[in-house]
Amino acid sequence: FNTDLGPYRHFMQKEIFEQPRAVADTLHDIDSIDPELFGLLARKRFSEIDGILILACGTSYYSGLTAKYWIEAIAKIKVEVEIASEYRYRQSVPSSNTLVITMSQSGETADTLAALKHAKNLGMTKTLAICNVPTSAMVRECELAYITRAGIEIGVASTKAFTTQLTALYLLTLVLAKLKGNLSELQEIEELKLLKHLPVAMQEILELEPKITKWADKFATKEHALFLGRGMHYPIALEGALKLKEISYIHAEAYPAGELKHGPLALVTEEIPVIVVAPTDQLLEKLKSNMAEVKARGGELFVFSDDASKIEPSSGMHVIKLPGVYGNLSPILHTLPLQLLAYHVAIVRGTDIDKPRNLAKSVTVE
Ligand code: G6P
Repeated sequence: FNTDLGPYRHFMQKEIFEQPRAVADTLHDIDSIDPELFGLLARKRFSEIDGILILACGTSYYSGLTAKYWIEAIAKIKVEVEIASEYRYRQSVPSSNTLVITMSQSGETADTLAALKHAKNLGMTKTLAICNVPTSAMVRECELAYITRAGIEIGVASTKAFTTQLTALYLLTLVLAKLKGNLSELQEIEELKLLKHLPVAMQEILELEPKITKWADKFATKEHALFLGRGMHYPIALEGALKLKEISYIHAEAYPAGELKHGPLALVTEEIPVIVVAPTDQLLEKLKSNMAEVKARGGELFVFSDDASKIEPSSGMHVIKLPGVYGNLSPILHTLPLQLLAYHVAIVRGTDIDKPRNLAKSVTVE
């Protein structure tokens, strides 16, 4: 495989910029939303289920959390998402009509494999792996599989694996919606068009890098950061916070913005940058009032939004506008600026970006 850095300084940066290609490859050349994309038996299995349980660790767990918002809203199927290391040891209530989905870049994460085994032992035999490594244990051990085509990911902090997982999960959402009669022919055509446009939209967002680099200087001296999002962008805020901790060693937390008043507002001072994922959607007005709560307490806001939101920069409020409003695909696109932010903060802080201290790419022991 190609381990050449090309024009990039780190594999993480290279992998961030590979995402348009990775997502295009993950979508193959699909021209209709078919269950068979997930395996020959998928049509039968998907029609037998009345719920979904997603098991994963780390960044892969956050892709699962995002999918819960999509699948419940669009396909109308109940979804639970659990951290694999918790699920494997807790006494849960199994249901044989549940589809168990394991999310994993490597397909070798010990806790996720053990959680899968545990679910099977509880009688949940309908299993799907969404995984980046076709020869992995996880793909072997699941009945169905969707292989993301991120290509080999070298940076310990996952980037392209995450956005390709999200792409696969959105496809799954559409497949399930179609099977359940919740996706019309017209909607299918429209959704396919949007999916195919995704790599182009990603490319445009990556061009924001110079603006994000400027923000990085403001962050690099801080020791704490708070990330806010709402709805399907809450898991994206979580992923943004995880990226920042993993590679810059800044303590970062993410909160659903509506929960601010139940604790994190007490932390807000000018010393804690507050990063907000604020696309135009039905929660925007709510989010704006959450942002006002932060501002009123002297907090400094760094907002990723778009033109339509009418969020303008002012004192204590920095704004970077993404070039569009992306609807359901917005979580995928809003991930990119957060990756770039973490990357450039880590550059300023001079950490070992591709191999952060104490972390491993793939955790194959418990
Ligand atoms: C490690 C990696 C993370 C990854 C997690 C799950 O912690 O550093 O980047 O998200 O494992 O790995 P998986 O291969 O199962 O997605």
